[in-house]
Amino acid sequence: MHDLRTVTEQAPAKLNLALHVRHRRPDGYHELETLFAFVEHGDTVRVVPAETDSFTLDGPFAPVLAAEGDNLVTRAATRFREAFGGGAHSIALEKRLPVASGIGGGSADAAATLRALAALHGIAPEDTRLFAIADALGSDVPACLLGRTALGRGRGEQLAPVAGLSGMPVLLVNPGVAVSTAAVFRGWDGVDRGPIGSGDLLDVARGGRNDLEPPARALAPAIDAVLAALAVQEGVLLARMSGSGATCFALFDTQTARDAAAATLAGRDWWLAATRLR
Ligand code: C5P
Repeated sequence: MHDLRTVTEQAPAKLNLALHVRHRRPDGYHELETLFAFVEHGDTVRVVPAETDSFTLDGPFAPVLAAEGDNLVTRAATRFREAFGGGAHSIALEKRLPVASGIGGGSADAAATLRALAALHGIAPEDTRLFAIADALGSDVPACLLGRTALGRGRGEQLAPVAGLSGMPVLLVNPGVAVSTAAVFRGWDGVDRGPIGSGDLLDVARGGRNDLEPPARALAPAIDAVLAALAVQEGVLLARMSGSGATCFALFDTQTARDAAAATLAGRDWWLAATRLR
């Protein structure tokens, strides 16, 4: 049944167009400079006030997430209630994004949950208390809560919006290997290769890098094949791994070129999503 108070929020996948690791901090986290961008493809979170709390999971990656036994959606809802009250809710998550894959699926879900709860209970989406909750839930959650192209510093929570590349065709490719973010960061070689540049976003992204690619490729060699396959496609403007992997993305000059690449790669045992930048 459709309750009039149902709020549905998209949870778009996050990309790191560039990710520069600058140094390891005393608290164990790494100081980053990263260009966050979002695509149209993602999960969906539906929230409705209820007598008692419930959480349901659906979609192609629901079984993988269910097996983990913990998720950021219910944690986000608990934190929201501690801060703002608002009673019980039934929350439904449609899980279309691969889990532990560098495109912020869990972070996007948490951010969408916070946005939905905020909308239901009259909290402004830019309320700093929401961002404090997001920050406590994970390094990428504030960026997902902001949900727009931005330069991130610190753990990724210090955000400065930048002009995006809205509508640019994107192909996401994941080789089906889950990688642990903590393990990938532990594999970073400790060399600061310098800051992200400034200027036109595409130029800056292309002039940048993902410093987590080498340690991720060492842990999951399947990433090599994905990056090699993307790099040789017609019309590719940039091919790179996102976050700590293993999902890689390619930006294309035209939708036709993106669709041709998707058709070429469809024969492999890879997860693909043909989408666009938001
Ligand atoms: O913040 P989040 O829980 O998403 O981070 C997962 C793990 O990734 C952390 O425990 C840490 O090992 C690593 N990490 C890091 N530096 C960052 C973000 C994450 O070392 N800036």
